[in-house]
Amino acid sequence: MKIAIIGTGNIGHGLASVLAGTGHPVVVSDRAGGTAAAAKLAEAGATVTAADIATAVSGADLVILATPFGAFDSIAAVADFAGKTVIDVSNPITEDFSGLSIGHSTSAAEDIARGLPGATVVKAFNTVFAQHYATGLSVGGRPVQTFVAADDAAARATVIALAGEIGIEAIDAGPLKNARYLEPLGFLNITFGYILGRGTDIAPAWLSK
Ligand SMILES: NC(=O)c1ccc[n+]([C@@H]2O[C@H](COP(=O)([O-])OP(=O)(O)OC[C@H]3O[C@@H](n4cnc5c(N)ncnc54)[C@H](OP(=O)(O)O)[C@@H]3O)[C@@H](O)[C@H]2O)c1
Repeated sequence: MKIAIIGTGNIGHGLASVLAGTGHPVVVSDRAGGTAAAAKLAEAGATVTAADIATAVSGADLVILATPFGAFDSIAAVADFAGKTVIDVSNPITEDFSGLSIGHSTSAAEDIARGLPGATVVKAFNTVFAQHYATGLSVGGRPVQTFVAADDAAARATVIALAGEIGIEAIDAGPLKNARYLEPLGFLNITFGYILGRGTDIAPAWLSK
């Protein structure tokens, strides 16, 4: 499965660093063409290629949007996402960090799905702090979890399996509209981590006996 990661900041770099070890070809891209980001990943031992956004998307089976929620309009304008599975990792936080900019009756994931006609959008990884990708994706001896929501069961299964390949325990979170609950969970995680003083070595988990 060819994977394109758009956005090479904290999350794009982190996901690329672990996905490069799975055997899936990974291409990274950003507004500068991804070359510097690929070189930085190479320094860290992760082999990926770089491409401009349109080329990266066009050659991929799965695209990870590791960009701020507000970026998807401009990305959709330069690339054709039809037929692609697209993972939205975003937490649509307001600029002043006081809350979410969208919610209750829709979600960032559903907005992105509406903005990318023909793509299959999956919500995942939004409750995983970027720092975990460098520290082994486990907390307290347990794998970090992610909650995976999508309307397409096959796409959901693909992302659940991919998460497993990088050592994240994926929980099936049902249809994409459940992103309306996953995005507030992402914000609660940020609140615990950055406002209530618990730091980023935390992760939400759904436990079963
Ligand atoms: N950081 C976390 O722990 C964390 C955890 C879970 C989810 N998330 C979510 O992950 C996403 C990325 O967060 P981050 O912390 O990785 O942010 P970041 O470090 O600021 O990186 C954002 C990346 O997106 C690129 N970008 C921004 N606007 C773009 C546009 N219009 N077109 C193309 N690329 C664009 C940036 O490129 P430039 O350098 O050119 O601006 C950069 O490569 C956000 O939606 C965030 O809510 C973050």
